[in-house]
Amino acid sequence: MSLTKKGSNYWGCCPFHHEKTPSFKVSADNQLYYCFGCKESGNAITFLKKMESIDSYEAVKILADAAGMQMTTYKFDKKTEDIKKKKERLLALMKDAALHYHENIYKPEAKPALDYAEGRQITSMIKKFGLGYSLGRFEMIDYLKSKGYSYAEMKDAGIAEQRADTYCDVFMNRLMIPIINPYGSVIAFGGRILEKNSELAKYRNSKQTILFDKSKVLFNLNLVKKLKQQKGLSSIIITEGYMDTISLYKAGIENVVASMGTSLTIEQAKLIKNYCDKVYISYDGDFAGQKATLRGLDILESVGLTVKVVPLSGEMDPDDIIKTSGAQGYRELLGNAISLTAFKLNSLARSYDLSDPDGKSKYAVEAIKTIKKLSPVEQEEYLGQIHKLTGYSMTVLMKQAELEEPLEKSEASAPREEIKNGDVALSAQEFVLASLINEMPYADFSHDILPYLTNDKAIDAYKLALEKYKERYTLQSLYNRIDEEDRDYIVNLINYNFMSGDDKKKFDECVILLKRRCFEAEKTKLIEKYNSTKDGELLSRLNEIEIQLKQMKKSGGF
Ligand code: UTP
Ligand code: MN
Repeated sequence: MSLTKKGSNYWGCCPFHHEKTPSFKVSADNQLYYCFGCKESGNAITFLKKMESIDSYEAVKILADAAGMQMTTYKFDKKTEDIKKKKERLLALMKDAALHYHENIYKPEAKPALDYAEGRQITSMIKKFGLGYSLGRFEMIDYLKSKGYSYAEMKDAGIAEQRADTYCDVFMNRLMIPIINPYGSVIAFGGRILEKNSELAKYRNSKQTILFDKSKVLFNLNLVKKLKQQKGLSSIIITEGYMDTISLYKAGIENVVASMGTSLTIEQAKLIKNYCDKVYISYDGDFAGQKATLRGLDILESVGLTVKVVPLSGEMDPDDIIKTSGAQGYRELLGNAISLTAFKLNSLARSYDLSDPDGKSKYAVEAIKTIKKLSPVEQEEYLGQIHKLTGYSMTVLMKQAELEEPLEKSEASAPREEIKNGDVALSAQEFVLASLINEMPYADFSHDILPYLTNDKAIDAYKLALEKYKERYTLQSLYNRIDEEDRDYIVNLINYNFMSGDDKKKFDECVILLKRRCFEAEKTKLIEKYNSTKDGELLSRLNEIEIQLKQMKKSGGF
C-alpha cells in the first residue's frame, strides 16, 4: 500500500476496509497503525498476519528476510538450512515447469487441449489459472534438463517418474492445472485426461513432496487471498473439484476453493478460518449419505467456522449448475443453503423408512441425539422440524430429548465405563482402528500396535489404515481396496460412531489396554507352561513381561 507523510505520521487508504479518503495512520514514533474508519490497529507483525493470513512465526520470518536479518533458530541449524535450499530449488523447478506447460498449450500440437478447454467453456480462464498442457512423455523432461535440473530433482518435485532407464513426465498428454500456494508459488499440479479412458485415472495429482501435502492445501486459495485483500471476504465456498472451482470463478463467484476430492482435514479447516468465519459446502449432489464426508464437515465446525450446506440434487455438481442455470441459479442455491444440523437431519431422514412406525421412531431417536449438543433454543427449533416430519407431538419429542444424555457428559467418562463391562479389549481395538482409519485429529501411527491386535480382520484393517494415511487415499477410494471378507468389518469401522469427547487421552488409554491384554495373555500361557515343564528359561521372559506390565500400569492409569 502507498503511504504519504504528513507531519510526523504516514497516511493511506485502509487496506482492511473499503475507502476513498485516507483514514489509516502509521505513527512514526511508536510504529503502530490505526484506522480511524474501521478501528483496525496493530504493529508490523499483526499487519502482516492480517494481510497475508499467516501466523506470527511466518510474519516474523518475512520481516526478518525483508530487513536482511536472520532468525536465530535457523542460524546454526544445518538440516533446516539444507531443506530450505532444496525447497527453493524445487520451487524454481515447479515455476519453470508451470510456465512451460502454459506456453505449450498455445502450440499447434496442443490443439486437443485447447479444443477441450473450449468444449468446457473455460478458454477465458486459461491465463487466470495458468492452465497448461503436457506435450507427451519427454517434452517437459527435456525442457527441465535444458534448464539445468537433474532427473532426481524432477522426481522429487513429482514431475518425473522412472520407467526402465528413462524418465517420463507423469502428466503426459494431460491438461495441466497448477496448484498455487497463498504466496504465489506453484507447489503441485493436477492433470486431467482429455478423453474418456477407463485405463487412466481422470485426474492425476502430484504425489506428496516436500512442497506439497494434499491434506494441507486447498486449490485456488491463492486467488481467494487476493480477493480478500482487494475486496474483503465474508465467506468461502468449498467445492470438491478443480473444474467446479474454475467454473464458479468464471461465473463471477470468486470466493471458491476445491478440496480436491478428499475429505477435509483439520489443517484445511484452520486454513479457511484464517481467511473468514463462514463456509459454504458445495459438494456434488450425491454426497449426503457419505458419513466420511459428514465428519469432514464436523471438523469445519470444530475450528469455529459457521457451516452452511448448499443443496444440490442428484448427480449435479456446481459446474453443471453454472452450465444449466448460470451464476444467478447458483446464487439462488447459495441463498437456500441450510445449516449443518439441518443437513444432517435431512440425510438421516433419508436413511430411514418414515412411512414405517419402527423406522419413524428410530429416526426420531437418532435425530434427537444429533441435536442434543445444541443450545435449548436451537434444539426447540429442530424439534419442530422433527415434529413436522414424524408427527410425534412436541411434548413427546421433548421428553425423549430429556432422556437422551447430553453427549459431552456421557463421553467424558466413557473409557472407564467401557473398561468395566463387555469385552473391553475388543471395543478398545475397534475404537483405535476406527480412529486411525478415519484419521481423527488425535490419532496417529506412533504406537506400533500391530503385534497387539487380536485377530486377522483387525490386522488387515490396521494395514489398510496405514496405507490410506501414507498414500493419502480418500475413504471413498479406499473402498475399492478392501478385501471382500473384510468388507463388513471395515465399513463398520469407517462408520464408527465417534463422540465429541473422544480425544488423545482415550486413544492412548485404549492402546495401552490392548498391549496389556496381550502381555497378560502371554503371561498366563507362560505360567501354565512353567508349571508343567519347570523350564527355567521361561522365567526370564516372564520377568520381562512383569516389568512391561508394571510400566503400563504406571502410565496407563488403569
Ligand atoms: P470430480 O470427478 O467431481 O471432479 O472429482 P470434477 O472437477 O468435477 O471433474 P470433471 O468435471 O469431470 O473434469 C473431484 C475432484 O477429485 C479429484 C480431483 O481433484 C477432482 O477435481 N480426483 C477425481 C482425483 O484426484 N482423481 C480422479 O481420478 C478423480
Ligand atoms: Mn465436474
